[in-house]
Amino acid sequence: MRNGDSLLLARVAIGLTWAAAMLCACHSRADLHPLIIVPGSGGNQLEARLTGEYKASSLLCSRLFPPVKDRDGWFRLWFEPSVLLAPFTKCFADRMTLYYDWTSDDYYNAPGVETRVCQFGSTESLRHLDPHLKQATSYMATLVESLQKVGYVDGETLFGAPYDFRYGLAADGHPSRVGSKFLQDLKDLIEKAAASNKGKPVILLSHSLGGLFTLQLLNRNPSSWLRRHVKHFIALSAPWGGAVDELLTFASGNALKVPLVDPLIVRGEQRSSESNLWLLPSPKVFDSEELLVISPFANYTARDIVQFLDDIGFPEGIRPYESRILPLVERLSVPDVPVTCMFGSSVKTPEKLTYRSKAKGFDEPPEVAHGDGDGTVNMASLLGLESLWEENPKQPFKVVTIPGVSHMSILKEEIALREIVQEIVNIHANRVGSSYVRR
Ligand SMILES: *[C@@H]1O[C@H](CO)[C@@H](O)[C@H](O)[C@H]1NC(C)=O
Repeated sequence: MRNGDSLLLARVAIGLTWAAAMLCACHSRADLHPLIIVPGSGGNQLEARLTGEYKASSLLCSRLFPPVKDRDGWFRLWFEPSVLLAPFTKCFADRMTLYYDWTSDDYYNAPGVETRVCQFGSTESLRHLDPHLKQATSYMATLVESLQKVGYVDGETLFGAPYDFRYGLAADGHPSRVGSKFLQDLKDLIEKAAASNKGKPVILLSHSLGGLFTLQLLNRNPSSWLRRHVKHFIALSAPWGGAVDELLTFASGNALKVPLVDPLIVRGEQRSSESNLWLLPSPKVFDSEELLVISPFANYTARDIVQFLDDIGFPEGIRPYESRILPLVERLSVPDVPVTCMFGSSVKTPEKLTYRSKAKGFDEPPEVAHGDGDGTVNMASLLGLESLWEENPKQPFKVVTIPGVSHMSILKEEIALREIVQEIVNIHANRVGSSYVRR
């Protein structure tokens, strides 16, 4: 280990001990504001069960996959390591695929596939994505441990809000059965957490896509309810205006960062996800002149997503994008509660995609030019709420950037965990205020 690193670690250790001492000195554990974690896309386990209506796409899928089921037929759909083996990747993708129904204007599971989240209210299903492979599939485990060190206890003061992250929300007037049910469950959890903690309002802590859901919950409830129930909203790595990376997922598929997976096998499933449509670059946040995709066919800015969806061969996405998603992202607004946005910066982040081959089109990976961001989300999007803050200047609003920390490592690296815990200490001491903090 280099000297600089050990120095850094020592400082972090002192910082965390200090933060723990601060919280425990001013507040007995019973006096903590309850804290609810809302994970990001793919950030909690998801279970599925197949009914008689299910039609497997191959014998392999019907006979051998999934390898393990419980007595009632439930198995872990996300995450199960066997999906990384090519023949099973397709079985997995078939079962994860959503369908948009024109008549009812809503999204549904594949026929014959039932899904559910596990242990709503607990952080259990968002600490690791596979309980048998904790190390390899750890998601929020380290963050939860840091919170436990300052006195938080799962089920008493600390809660988790897992959800079916394939589904999103829609603009007013459009049904969104699954996403709306999640917002109601989250609202009930907030009320329950406050009630079981002497009526203390809760701190909401989201990661990535979880921030978009949380913002909608806050913007869809009256100020009087918010004042009574929500102390503060900390959004980690929130893609307020989507990400260029998502254009790559739609055009060419995203291999889940695993070299074994062929991105084209999962592309159809990824395109079908309503929440992925929600994460396409928003014209509200991205510059209307900036070319995000260059191809032999046409060039695209954030205003040309409809054309883009058509050209990549996904015209089915156009109607839900135009009617449900676009009016939702164009109405991005600051909530009536104090907010802290924390995110990594100075990490190479996809900013422009260039497709050169007319023959291969969007089926081969593009050349990627990078810009500032957290490695996944572009800086303009991470700062998306800040630019709107004049709308609600009486609410404290704070931005904390942590250079060199990525979209995912913000949940694991000591330097980031220290900032997050410190902010929770500040909230308890009513010492947040409004500022732009660059570490
Ligand atoms: C797309 O942009 C590139 C680079 O700016 C330009 O050379 C090309 O002519 C544009 N293509 C189209 C179809 O507009």
